[in-house]
Amino acid sequence: MQLRSALVTGAGRRIGREIAIALAQGGADVVLHAHTSSGDETRRAVQQHGRRAWVIRGDLSSRRNVQRIAREALEKTGKIDILINNAAVFFPTPISALTAQEWHTFRQTNISAPFFLSVLIGRQMYQQGQGKIIFLGDWSGRRPSRNFLPYCVSKAGVSALTQALAKAFAPHVQVNEVAPGPVLLPEDYGPEQQEELRTRTPLQRFGSPYDIARTVRFLVESGDFVTGASYVVDGGWLAQGHDGSGTSL
Ligand SMILES: NC(=O)c1ccc[n+]([C@@H]2O[C@H](COP(=O)([O-])OP(=O)(O)OC[C@H]3O[C@@H](n4cnc5c(N)ncnc54)[C@H](OP(=O)(O)O)[C@@H]3O)[C@@H](O)[C@H]2O)c1
Repeated sequence: MQLRSALVTGAGRRIGREIAIALAQGGADVVLHAHTSSGDETRRAVQQHGRRAWVIRGDLSSRRNVQRIAREALEKTGKIDILINNAAVFFPTPISALTAQEWHTFRQTNISAPFFLSVLIGRQMYQQGQGKIIFLGDWSGRRPSRNFLPYCVSKAGVSALTQALAKAFAPHVQVNEVAPGPVLLPEDYGPEQQEELRTRTPLQRFGSPYDIARTVRFLVESGDFVTGASYVVDGGWLAQGHDGSGTSL
């Protein structure tokens, strides 16, 4: 299947940047969504692979921005046939201090924004007769940890969205989830926290952004009979049955 134009949210840095570059290597032009990042560095990297790239910036916690980003992405490319819902918020929310605003932030950015973006772009994909939507979830959506409750619930919601939208957009659009384990830890994690998490990972290493990006690329390029599926790329965290409590997770 010839898929040529992608929209990647949160593409300015880290895993989103790696996914955008991997899609460009596979021959896709890429609309790069960014929020606080400029997106310029990823744009140059995509262009170095001979593909076109545009940056659209906006806070996904605003519904109006979600609509604008979908509209502008379609205007720039003419059509989107790959949507990667990568942007998300992640920070600890101990139950003793959890606020309604924090709950709202996780719900809006991690579930509502990818849902409405998928509906808006997915309808256009359905009409054109093909498309791939991929959500970035998290292994901890299946093993919620107590200090990250709204984040884990938002990622459990992403798994449910994956299955529901796979049915809603069948047979023309495949919708799947890639659920990473520890890949890039938050930038404020110290060496001791990092080492503790590494040694508790069954594969004894963190994943790399490339591990995630190449799974995304496999689903985009080769997953034509795969829909409603979740690919857990977590170094074994889910398999070991541990929820991360007592660790930095
Ligand atoms: N890193 C890991 O080890 C790991 C593990 C499990 C799951 N995941 C999932 O994999 C995905 C990528 O992980 P990551 O660590 O690369 O993510 P990240 O750096 O925490 O966030 C990705 C991007 O989301 C964007 N973003 C955050 N809040 C936003 C908002 N309100 N509006 C618009 N954009 C917003 C940011 O864009 P700007 O930089 O432009 O502000 C950021 O670059 C996420 O969905 C994450 O939950 C990651």
